Amino acid sequence: MNQQECLNIQDLYVQYGDKKVLNGLNITLHRGEMLGVLGANGCGKSSLLKTILGSIQPSKGILNLFGTPIQQMNPKKIAQTIAYIPQHSSLSMSLRVEDLLYMGRYPHKSNLWASHNEKDHQKVYEVAKLLNVWEMRHQNTQTLSGGELQRTLLARALISEPQILLLDEPTSALDLRYAIEILEICEHLVKDMHLAMLIVIHDLNLASLFCGQGVLMRDGKVFVQGKMSEILTTQNIQAVYGLESEVIRHSNRHIIVPKKGNKFQSMAS
Ligand SMILES: Nc1ncnc2c1ncn2[C@@H]1O[C@H](COP(=O)(O)OP(=O)(O)OP(=O)(O)O)[C@@H](O)[C@H]1O
Ligand SMILES: [Mg+2]
Repeated sequence: MNQQECLNIQDLYVQYGDKKVLNGLNITLHRGEMLGVLGANGCGKSSLLKTILGSIQPSKGILNLFGTPIQQMNPKKIAQTIAYIPQHSSLSMSLRVEDLLYMGRYPHKSNLWASHNEKDHQKVYEVAKLLNVWEMRHQNTQTLSGGELQRTLLARALISEPQILLLDEPTSALDLRYAIEILEICEHLVKDMHLAMLIVIHDLNLASLFCGQGVLMRDGKVFVQGKMSEILTTQNIQAVYGLESEVIRHSNRHIIVPKKGNKFQSMAS
């Protein structure tokens, strides 16, 4: 496997006003790696992705994309390299699925009005077929179900031919069949096309099934990082989520069974 380093984050600090969210976070992402980022609600996962994209400025830290500080790169180059699907995927504008898909080609155009060429048409068709959204290309995006919209947004992201994909809870609106299908497509993209993927995911069992590497975040930094199969332990789950669970080994992966009757501390305390 090619282990080229795509993203290198060192000692990253982010805050909103006085509120500190990331406190010295370190993460390295390699080509051909599907890195699952896990952690409790509010621990800073989405803020991390937004900081990588440049929509939030860190107060301190190093953020290198293929060896170049992201702050020194022009937005078009970043858009050609990284595709992002935000956590709360909704669309305020009304447009056809097909038009949304073609927006994935914008990073490769000289301007928004440049006409599409054969490669654009081919890429849109190929990815839309792969993600099973081609049949709905004439439908208005406002009428899509949550899962259909999620698949359409993933298609648009792939149509831009990124080297790095940042996915913020991409399976949250999907039924189990589509969640597995989407994650299998992601796995294929990572393994066979050597994409690098950073995926925020709450479902520990899906994370264990698909993500080779994982990061558990706590207090705005990495609590533990390593092979997902090694870091999903009863002790780490307790430390990160404050949740008692049983971790069962089955066919080289883990099944996490939460226990009932946890004595949760108030989240506000
Ligand atoms: N624009 C903002 N202004 C002020 N506080 C913010 C802002 N965005 C996020 N926060 C706060 O920063 C903290 C981290 O938010 P973030 O969205 O990164 O968490 P998360 O780990 O993605 O959580 P979840 O799992 O619920 O999606 C939260 O306490 C949130 O309220
Ligand atoms: Mg989030």
